[in-house]
Amino acid sequence: MATRMTAGRLAAARFSPTIRRPFTSQPPPPKEGSNILLFVGLTAFGGAAHYYYRHSPYFNGANKSTEVDYVQVYKDVADLLEDNDYDDGSYGPVLVRLAWHASGTYDVDTKTGGSNSASMRFEPEALHGANNGLKVARDLLEPIKAKHPNISYGDLWTLAGVAAIQELGGPTIPWRPGRTDGTSAESCTPDGRLPDATKKQDHIRNIFYRMGFNDQEIVALTGAHALGRCHPDRSGFEGPWSEQPTLFSNEYFKVISEREWIKKELKNGGWQWVDKNNTDVMMLPAEISMFNDKEFRKYFELYAKDQDQFFKDFTNAFAKLTELGVPFKGDEKVYKFETLPVVVTNNPT
Ligand code: HEM
Repeated sequence: MATRMTAGRLAAARFSPTIRRPFTSQPPPPKEGSNILLFVGLTAFGGAAHYYYRHSPYFNGANKSTEVDYVQVYKDVADLLEDNDYDDGSYGPVLVRLAWHASGTYDVDTKTGGSNSASMRFEPEALHGANNGLKVARDLLEPIKAKHPNISYGDLWTLAGVAAIQELGGPTIPWRPGRTDGTSAESCTPDGRLPDATKKQDHIRNIFYRMGFNDQEIVALTGAHALGRCHPDRSGFEGPWSEQPTLFSNEYFKVISEREWIKKELKNGGWQWVDKNNTDVMMLPAEISMFNDKEFRKYFELYAKDQDQFFKDFTNAFAKLTELGVPFKGDEKVYKFETLPVVVTNNPT
C-alpha cells in the first residue's frame, strides 16, 4: 500500500538535533582570572546587542520574524488532503473551489474583488449562496494559519488550491505571495459575481469576461470540474462530473463530449443533466449550454483529445485567476512547488 509521509514524520526529519559547530582547533586556555570579568561583560553586551538586532526595525534582521515558509505551507496542505470519511476521500476539490471563489469575484473595470483581501471571511460574502459549503474549506485551513501566522488568508487559500490541484495529479502551477487581508466587511464584494449554474452560456461569458478571461480560458478553467462533486445541501445539485472525482485530468472533457445526457428532476424543484448510462454522473445546466455553443465547443473538443494542451492552458488560466487584482510589487519569488513524495510502507497482506 502506498501512503503519504505524515506531517509528524516530516517534522521529525526536519527537527533533528542541532549539530554544534566544532572549533577548527582547540580554543586557547584563559590566561588570567581577570579575563572572567571581561568575558561576563562581553557576553552581557553581546546578548543585549543581539536582542536589539532582532527587535529593532532599523535592522534587516528584524524582518525575519515575518517570513513565511511557503514550501512548508504547501507540505502542510498536502498532508491534510486525504480523509476517507469526507466525500470521495479528499478535501482537495473543496479547496480548489475556495481558491476559485475567493479569486473569481474580480471586476476588471472597477478593479475590485479578487483574492487580495480574502473578503469571504466576512459577512455578507461568507453567506452568499455561491459560497455555500466553503466554510468547510476555510475551517480546514485554520490550523495551518495558526502554524504560519504571518501568511495572509488570500495567500493561504490560493496556495491551498494550487497544492490540491498538484497533489491530485494536476499540473505544476506557478504561485507567488503578495496578498494582504482586508480587515472588515468593507472589502466584501456584492452578491452575484460568481456564475449561476442554472443559467445559459451567455451568462457564463458575461461573468468571466468581467474578470478578464476569453472563451478558451473559460473552458480550460471549467475543466477543474474533473474534481469533486455537487452537494444537495450546498448548491442543490447532486453528484460528481466523472467516476474519478479525486484525479485531476482531462476526464471532464471526455465525459461531457462522449456521453448521452438526459434531464433529471431534483427533489428541490430544480433539474440537472445526468449520464444516461450512469445516472450518478452529472452536468450542470450551464455546462451543457456551454458545450452546445459553437465557440466554446471547439475548446471542449480540443481538451478532450489533448490532455497536455489542457494542462498547459489550465496552468496559465488558473495562475491568472488567483492573481486577479493582487497588487504585486514585482519582486516576489515565484514558487513552483514539488508534489509530496509517495512513501511506500509495509504491505499488510
Ligand atoms: C462555468 C462556471 C462554473 C459554474 C456554473 C460552477 C458551478 C459549480 C457548482 C454548482 C458546484 C457544486 C458546489 C457544491 O454543491 O458543493 C461546483 C463545484 C466545484 N467547482 Fe465549479 N463552477 C464553475 C466554474 C468553476 C471553476 C472556474 C473552477 C476552478 C477553476 C471550479 C471548481 C469547482 C470544484 C473543484 C468544485 C467541487 C467542489 C467540491 O467537491 O466540494 N468551478 N461548481
